[in-house]
Amino acid sequence: MKHIILFASGSGTNVENIIKYFEGHSAIAISCVFTNKRDAFVIDRCNAMGVPAFSFNGPAFKDDSILLKILKSLQPDLIVLAGFLRKIPTEMVAAFPKKIINIHPALLPKYGGKGMYGKHVHKAVKANKETESGITVHFVNDHYDEGAIIEQRSVKITSSDSADEIARKVQELEHLHFPRIIEAILSEN
Ligand code: GAR
Repeated sequence: MKHIILFASGSGTNVENIIKYFEGHSAIAISCVFTNKRDAFVIDRCNAMGVPAFSFNGPAFKDDSILLKILKSLQPDLIVLAGFLRKIPTEMVAAFPKKIINIHPALLPKYGGKGMYGKHVHKAVKANKETESGITVHFVNDHYDEGAIIEQRSVKITSSDSADEIARKVQELEHLHFPRIIEAILSEN
């Protein structure tokens, strides 16, 4: 079995969708979920699904931290950032080369970088009157949203779409494609 560790910061719809996708999978299992927010709703979702979840604070997360030691001891085949909003420390990136992936709710390199996450992305897309947005799954490197792109999917936006409607369309793409992309990465390696 290959196993995945998920990271999330908020509601956790992607986490729930990924966990459900891999339930009963013959080759891939979800080990646990880590969150940087102890009141994040993703923990309630994990409780309901019977999946172990851990929250951590800033000192546990920084370079050369206890969390890095824990991750190394768990030896994940893949670390998946599924709505995780903190920057991954340099030493963590170095410890898991090509083993940390992220989903970003826009078509990178547009609308990436520090401060570009969640609804901020969709508001900027709306403000710039874009005619399409989408998702980018990419490897994580030392710079926000700049690692090698694995797959992108786009969706049309109309001028009447609100930022909330853009968010809904993008989340639909995330839920449709992200688990399959994860599965493909693990079956190639
Ligand atoms: C997702 O749309 C994900 O793409 C985004 O956070 C949302 C989390 O939703 N991630 C980023 O913005 C990372 N820069 P969820 O908690 O419902 O899965």
